[in-house]
Amino acid sequence: MSDELIQFGYLVAAVLFILGIRGLARPRTAVRGNKLGSLGMLVAVVVTLTDNDIIGYGAIVGGLVVGTAIGVLLATRVQMTGMPQLVALFNGFGGAASLLVAAAGFIEVLDVVEPDLETSVATAAALAIGGVTLTGSIVAFGKLQELVGGGAVASAPLRVLNIAVAVATIVFGVGLAADPARWWMWALVAVSLVLGVTLVAPIGGADMPVVIALLNSLSGLAAAAAGFILDNSLLIIAGSLVGASGLILTGIMCRAMNRTLVNVLFGSIESSGVTADADEVYAGRVTSSSADDVALLLETANRVAMVPGYGMAVAQAQHAVRDLTRALQERDVEVVFGIHPVAGRMPGHMNVLLAEAEIPYEQLLEMDTINPTFDRTDVVIVIGANDVVNPEARENPDSPIAGMPILDVDKARTVVVVKRSLSPGFAGIPNPLFAGDNTLMLFGDGRAAVEDMTKALAEL
Ligand code: TAP
Repeated sequence: MSDELIQFGYLVAAVLFILGIRGLARPRTAVRGNKLGSLGMLVAVVVTLTDNDIIGYGAIVGGLVVGTAIGVLLATRVQMTGMPQLVALFNGFGGAASLLVAAAGFIEVLDVVEPDLETSVATAAALAIGGVTLTGSIVAFGKLQELVGGGAVASAPLRVLNIAVAVATIVFGVGLAADPARWWMWALVAVSLVLGVTLVAPIGGADMPVVIALLNSLSGLAAAAAGFILDNSLLIIAGSLVGASGLILTGIMCRAMNRTLVNVLFGSIESSGVTADADEVYAGRVTSSSADDVALLLETANRVAMVPGYGMAVAQAQHAVRDLTRALQERDVEVVFGIHPVAGRMPGHMNVLLAEAEIPYEQLLEMDTINPTFDRTDVVIVIGANDVVNPEARENPDSPIAGMPILDVDKARTVVVVKRSLSPGFAGIPNPLFAGDNTLMLFGDGRAAVEDMTKALAEL
């Protein structure tokens, strides 16, 4: 293939990637966006494979077969709740690929000529960022999979160690750029691999989704740097897209949790704020209810809001929720869903589950849209959500989640909270909503409880 044709192919792939990302921004166009992105990747792979620099297809086909087999296995086996771990692994593989490409490219150049400054700087960046991404992602995977301790550790010696390793990474990186030699390269690889571990290991498993979004961004930057080494414009464009979108996502997640990135990376959610004692909050104030009681409430309601959270994902209650929604709509009850940006454990977690259960997008309202409407809502059913509806965030400036924007469900006439116990959620703090005068607790597994409500409603 001529060079012009190859560059044209890369351009087509890049445009498809950009259109794909644009499509993914809206639920209605997301499937099309996904297909456009996949098509872009197909074009990119085909063009790269026909690029005349390739000397043998044996290893490529072997890698393709093994990779496809593992990919299909993971994609079909991994549960929705295990998706963050899977994404963490993918980021790690991305970082590893960039690291290997950079190292191989650099050694190849070194054997022939003195690398120019652009190649040396790009190699240093790809090795450092790729190394951090690889080990950081493996630690993130281990924490989420509960293979290693998940708690947050905020200690001064650890911070000092982190700073020392980070400084060493920068020094070796600058050293490699200034004096392209193998030993700088290996030293840089070694410290960046250590930095990934020391950086992510002290962060609590709870903050891992934010860390994963950041590592995703880093894997993109490492790929972009590798693109400079290979002189491959598509890799530079695709890597930059991943880098920028990962960074934007990290920012959105931090804002929705009212945390700064520095606080996520170097602080610990447990170490700040004053947490009330659960007994103090709940003693004698919690009202339990039953599916039959809730059905009676629903029967007379005009407007019902469902607020799903992580527990809906655990219970896989989305189909039961859809059935209850339909049963209510058949009785002319208006049903809407309140979606908090960080409900669940990954961005868009609730949207994905509800879309799987074929709940129309129009019924899903974002936090800012639904919040002003809670005071004219008869019943809110909170299904496995906790932190995202905790009024402490709004009312207690000393709370560890103070300032986190929440869904103001306590402003509705009646709130029904479906969960198995009074256990805390992700932030590990009690929730005064459960002891509210207008709150009824329906204890049980999310799916079973919602199915019972639908049955009880049908019997009325
Ligand atoms: P959480 O506050 O984590 O609460 C989930 C609740 O679900 C728990 O209190 C648990 O109570 C309940 N639950 C678990 N299994 C259940 C089951 N089978 N049936 C019914 N209930 C069940 O969830 P949330 O309100 O969705 O908030 C998300 C939290 O994750 C926030 O703090 C957020 O900052 C954090 N976070 C989110 C993200 C993203 S991107 N979504 C990223 C990082 C952090 P029981 O054990 O009593 O049942």
